[in-house]
Amino acid sequence: NWSMETFIDDTIRDIRNQVGDRKVLCALSGGVDSSVVAILLHKAIGDQLTCMFIDHGLLRKDEGESVMETFVGKFDMHVVKIDARDRFLSKLAGVSDPEQKRKIIGNEFIYCFDEESKKLGQFDFLAQGTLYTDIVESGTATAHTIKSHHNVGGLPEDMHFELVEPLKALFKDEVRKVGSECGLPDAIVHRQPFPGPGLAIRVLGEVTEEKLTIVRESDAILRDEIAKAGLDREIWQYFTALPNMKSVGVMGDARTYSYTVGIRAVTSIDGMTADWARIPWDILEKISVRIVNEVENVNRIVYDVTSKPPATIEWE
Ligand code: XMP
Repeated sequence: NWSMETFIDDTIRDIRNQVGDRKVLCALSGGVDSSVVAILLHKAIGDQLTCMFIDHGLLRKDEGESVMETFVGKFDMHVVKIDARDRFLSKLAGVSDPEQKRKIIGNEFIYCFDEESKKLGQFDFLAQGTLYTDIVESGTATAHTIKSHHNVGGLPEDMHFELVEPLKALFKDEVRKVGSECGLPDAIVHRQPFPGPGLAIRVLGEVTEEKLTIVRESDAILRDEIAKAGLDREIWQYFTALPNMKSVGVMGDARTYSYTVGIRAVTSIDGMTADWARIPWDILEKISVRIVNEVENVNRIVYDVTSKPPATIEWE
C-alpha cells in the first residue's frame, strides 16, 4: 500500500534529516533514476545540491541540451555540464572490442567524475539512483555479472562520500510515478532505456566521429517517426546501429559505396527477453527514405527481425 504523496513528503524529510546543512553531489545522466533523485534532492535541500552532467560525446541527438533545458531552465537547479567529448573519443580510438569499449568508457567516466568533482569543491554526500531491484539483484552472483557491464554510473571506491539513495525502496514504475508527480517532463519519465556506454556500442567496431554522426542522425529520424506514429510507448526500445560495413548502391546515374544502417526495435517487459517489434511497413518505409536522404554516406537500411534470445537487444 505504497502511497506516492506520503513517499515524496517522507523522502524530503528523510533527506533533510540526513544531510542537514551539508553539501550533496549528484551525477545526472538524463535517465529516469538520476533525474528523479536530482529533483527530490532539489526539493529537499535546494542550493545545497550540485548536479554534474558529463557529456561523453556518446549521447543521442539534442540530449545534452534537453537535460540542461529541463533542470536549469525549468527547475532552476545548479547543474555543471562537463564537455568530455574529446577525452572519451581519444581513449576509444583504435578500440573495436565491445567489452573493451565498455570498460574504457566506464573507467573514463570515473576518472572524469573524480577530477571534475574535485574542481567543484568539497562534498559530503553523493546522491545515487539505486533502486530496490539493484539491491536485490546484486545479491546473487549471476545478476552481479550481468549488472557489471551496466556500470557506467558506478563510482570509485576511494571516493569518501556518504550515500544518499532516496529510491532504494522503489521499483521502476514507482520511480516514474514519483518523477511525474514532481513535474518531470514525459520525455524523461517515459524515456526508453539507454545504455551507459551510449552510442559507442551502436557503432560496431571502432568508434569514429563520422560513424557517431551517422548513428546519431539516423537515430534521431527513427525516434521522430516512431513518435509521430504514436508508437513510442508501445515499443520498449528502438534505435539505429551502424554495422561495420559498406555496400554498393546507386544514386542518379552514379554508383555509391556507402554505409548500411540497421534499425532495431523490440517489445519487452524487462529487457531480459525481447521480441522484434512489428512496425507497420509504411512507417518503416518513411524511416528508410528519410535516413537515406537526410544522412550523408548511407545508402541502405536493414531491419533486425531477431528476438532475444538468440540475439541481444543491442548489437554489441
Ligand atoms: P542486451 O543488449 O544485453 O540489453 O539485450 C539488455 C538491456 O540492457 C541495456 N544495455 C546496457 N545498459 N550499459 C548499460 O547501462 C551497457 O553496457 C549495456 N548493454 C546493454 C540495453 O540497452 C537493453 O536495455
